[in-house]
Parts: sequence; C-alpha cells; structure tokens
Amino acid sequence: DKGNHRHFMQKEIYEQPVVVAQTLQSYLRPVEEMVALPDMDFDLAGVERVAIVACGTASYVGMIGKYWIEQFARVPVEVDVASEFRYRDPVLLPNTLGVVVSQSGETADTLAALRHMKEHGVTTAGIINVPTSSMAREVDLLLSTHAGPEIGVASTKAFTCQLAVMAALAVNLARAKGKLGGDEETEIVRHLVEAPASINAALAHDAEIEAMAHTIAQARDVLYLGRGPDYPLALEGALKLKEISYIHAEGYASGEMKHGPIALIDDNVPLIVLAPSGPLFDKTVSNMQEAQARGARVVLISDAEGLKLAGEDAVATIEMPKVHPLISPIVYAVPVQLLAYHVAVAKGTDVDQPRNLAKSVTVE
Ligand code: M6R
Repeated sequence: DKGNHRHFMQKEIYEQPVVVAQTLQSYLRPVEEMVALPDMDFDLAGVERVAIVACGTASYVGMIGKYWIEQFARVPVEVDVASEFRYRDPVLLPNTLGVVVSQSGETADTLAALRHMKEHGVTTAGIINVPTSSMAREVDLLLSTHAGPEIGVASTKAFTCQLAVMAALAVNLARAKGKLGGDEETEIVRHLVEAPASINAALAHDAEIEAMAHTIAQARDVLYLGRGPDYPLALEGALKLKEISYIHAEGYASGEMKHGPIALIDDNVPLIVLAPSGPLFDKTVSNMQEAQARGARVVLISDAEGLKLAGEDAVATIEMPKVHPLISPIVYAVPVQLLAYHVAVAKGTDVDQPRNLAKSVTVE
C-alpha cells in the first residue's frame, strides 16, 4: 500500500527517518551512549582486514564503509562488486572479516561471493534487510537492517539503513581494536542518534528539488561530484538517476574531474556537487569552480556554512542541516534520491518498475 504517496519509491524515501531510527535502535545503547552489535562467536579484536562485497547501491555502502572502518578502526578494507570478486580469485588472508551487504539477501553474485568466502574459511557478517533470505541464513553474524519491505526497484531506505548499520560496525570494530572508545565514541553515537532528525530536515526541501527537477529532466548527461564518503554517494546519485529517469549520469571523485570528465562539461551538463562544509570543502569547491568556468550548471548541496561560502556560484542550491561528516552520506542521500525521483516523474517513466530492471537479481 502506497498510502498517500504516488509511488512506492516516494513512500520509501519518506519512511527513512522512522526506519533509520528503528535500525539504529537495535545497534545503540542510548543510556551508555555506546554502539552494540549482536552476540557473535568470534572476536572482533582479531580482525586484521575486512573484505566487503555487494552489488549496485549496496556496493556504495561498502565503499562508504571503507572510509569509516579505515578511519576509525585503522583496519584495511577492500571493497568489490560481487560479480568481480567471485571470479577474480581474491587473496583471502587469515583474520579477514568478510562483509556482504544486500537488501534482498538473494542477489546471485553476492550470495556466490559469500559462499566463496565461507569455503575459504573466512568469517562473515551480513548487512541484510530480508531476515529470511539465503544470505541471512548463511552468514556467521547477521546484522539486520530494519527498513521493512522495499518495493521500489530503486533502493532508497535500504541504503540509508545499511549505512546506519555499517557505521555501527565501524565503531564497534574500532572499539574492539582499541582505537576508539570513551568520549569519542559517545560523540559519534550522539551524531548517529541525530541522523533521523537530520533526514527529516533534508526531506523538507522536497518542493525545491521538485522545482529544479524539471530543468534537469531536459539534460542528456548529468555529473555528480563528491569527496571522501560523499564520493560513493555521488556514484549512488548517478545510479539512481540513470536507473529511473534513463538520463546518462556519472559519479566522480571531485579530484578526478580534471583527469577526464571535465571534457564533457558544457552549458548543457548539470553538475550536482555534494559538499558538506568541513576539511574537504574548499577542495571540492575549487573543482566545482573549474567546471563552472567551462559552463557547467552547478547544483550545490551543502549546509548553511558551505552555501554561504560558495552558494553564489551555483545556479541552484539545496541546504542540508549541518551534520557530522560521519553521517553526511546518510543525510545527503535524501536530496540525491528526491532529485532522481522527481526527474523520473517529470520524464513520465515508470518509477517503481524501471525498464529492464528487476528488484532482486537472482541470476548472474
Ligand atoms: O538486494 P541487493 O541489495 O543485493 O541488490 C543489489 C542491487 O541489485 C541493487 O542495489 C540495485 O543496484 C538497485 N536497483 C539500486 O537502486
């Protein structure tokens, strides 16, 4: 039931404050302000490397997880798309924690990658939304997302819930490795607890995003830029747009612009820049200005501080609440999803059932 929403995708975007809160609830101890994973029969302190495997949107959660786990736990992380991982004969060293991320828990390549890791003696964890799925049954440690059924083919609420769990895993691993605890952990937990309210604040910009979608719907190509954890989010923005609006879109790490993609820029190419204020902001803005000088029509998504510094250069801006860099991809996912949604609606495509795509890819 879509309730009073026009599409399941829209309904699922709007469910995010609630389902992210629900998901976080099972991984946070609010009184102690600590992160807690379910009981497991292995010791996280023994983990020396992490291999994350997933497909599509879930693989971007893996890429964001790499930033978080390496930053907090100082454990090296490899991320692969499952279709490559299973055939490239990966080197699986001892003390690797294998992590699969999947909404359905049935994606053929991810399931095969999970089985491959298990056959090679790797301990596995799964960030999975369907608790009765094959992957949920087969992982050593099930880390459930509580997004509820996701009907729209474009993944939205599963993504933000997966990020919430990934953040909890990163913090827990960091504590187990003696790299984090006490006040620092308390602070991160506080920021995570704020995520649902920040998602709500992001949703309040729906009407503005809808208004700008009509122009973007005319574009042939759209580029997304981000740095750090917002780089995988740029990839997610591009995937979301292409899968439901059929507009060609690419996500790039901001610093890669001048290594090729800037050649695509002319005044017909919207450039969506994901740039929360913070240490990387100036660098992203200078990449943005280079593109602007070549005619790019920039939509800058940032917080009040960022927009004050660089908003004037953009043709449009979307103001996000000020959030900790840890949770920025969770919050900035919202405008990215809404933009894809409204562009698709403006183009009149079948938003919930885009052509050629299946919700769950159970054949390779
Ligand atoms: O069920 P899974 O999370 O394993 O699915 C993975 C991808 O097929 C999925 O995320 C796909 O990329 C979505 N349609 C993206 O919106």
